[in-house]
Amino acid sequence: MNPLIKGAILGAVLLLAACMSQQAPPWEAANPIVPIPEPPLGIEQTFADLAEPPTPERVRLGRWLFYDTRLSADNTISCATCHIPENAFSEPTPVSTGIDGQKGSRKSPSFINQAWTLYPHFFWDGRAASLEEQALGPVENPIEMGNTHVAMISMLQGIDGYAPYFEECFGTPEITTERVAKALADYERTRMSGNSPWDRWKHGKDETAVSDQVKMGDDLFFNAAACSQCHFGQNFTDSRFHNLGIGWNEETGTWADEGRFVVSADSADLGAFKTPTVREATKRAPYMHDGSLATLREVMDHYNKGGHASPFLSPMIEPLELTDEEIDAVVAFMEALDGEGYQDTAPTAFPQ
Ligand code: HEC
Ligand code: HEC
Repeated sequence: MNPLIKGAILGAVLLLAACMSQQAPPWEAANPIVPIPEPPLGIEQTFADLAEPPTPERVRLGRWLFYDTRLSADNTISCATCHIPENAFSEPTPVSTGIDGQKGSRKSPSFINQAWTLYPHFFWDGRAASLEEQALGPVENPIEMGNTHVAMISMLQGIDGYAPYFEECFGTPEITTERVAKALADYERTRMSGNSPWDRWKHGKDETAVSDQVKMGDDLFFNAAACSQCHFGQNFTDSRFHNLGIGWNEETGTWADEGRFVVSADSADLGAFKTPTVREATKRAPYMHDGSLATLREVMDHYNKGGHASPFLSPMIEPLELTDEEIDAVVAFMEALDGEGYQDTAPTAFPQ
């Protein structure tokens, strides 16, 4: 090729590259578009199973929104304030602290692997039917983010940097509550957990991946201790509601939290809560909807004695009479369910 033409082409390419790098806003490097991750070993469903699979663009936008404190009334609280990545998107305290230091009454649950659920139940009492429906509740919760959807949307509209990403995701630059919810939900869907030592043993057939103690715990979990009556499937949850007697006050004969009853008005649901996953349990102490049990050992003691005697205690909860050695084995089994696929950190820069 004529060196002159070659030089001209090279120059044009360099100029174009310079233009593009100039155009790319500085916050993009902190949150590039990445391909949708493959579900890790042990998660048998795929995003193609979903009616509307997440898109890389929406996950990127959702990641910004999830960590952006400007969604709260006083710019101090983001979703990640209570759903902390290192805690598998739960938190290390019994209940959440939201805006102005106000305390909620429930522990923030993890949403790992919730792209797929057996039943569409979100929150401890299942009052939301999709991640989209769930996503915007906290924004208007006076204790959590203390904002209004109208104020949140006008705040986002006031940040010029956000509109291009709404256009990229949805075809037009309009910023609406539905679009914000969709992007947040897609980010949540890509937070998965699998490929734990237990998965590498059970699904990967690697006999050396876990100890004999873990194998003993696995046998107890699925058989003698019958934990798998409620904790089953790829995410170890039936997505249904059960009463373990947590929060029953014997003296007053009342529930600290009426749980599923608030949604169903069925008295059989008094004090019943959604079965949480046992994946990543070591990251999520203290346990239960009210964070009242400090360690996995305490959780086991609770089950071993047959729960708290209370009206409507699940008939599936009975004294187990496990020995100390067996309790340790079930705990070791749960510890072997720590895996990967959810880890993240907040983007270091946001649209301005
Ligand atoms: C102040 C703390 C706090 C903030 C901020 C917060 N959450 Fe939560 N989140 C909670 C608590 C507590 C619950 C459980 C509430 C309940 O069950 O009634 C919850 C429940 C959830 C669930 C349901 C998980 C399940 O397994 O059912 C999802 C999903 C979720 N939050 C996403 C979000 C998103 C998205 C945001 C930001 C827009 C957010 N949260 C902001 C504390 C918080
Ligand atoms: C009848 C259904 C049922 C059975 C059987 C059951 N669980 Fe649970 N599990 C639940 C429910 C529901 C909760 C949440 C209860 C609450 O918050 O009030 C829970 C909570 C937990 C938690 C706390 C998780 C968290 O994020 O707070 C762990 C760990 C756990 N169960 C492990 C086990 C083990 C181990 C067994 C067997 C010894 C077992 N479960 C048997 C339904 C069940």
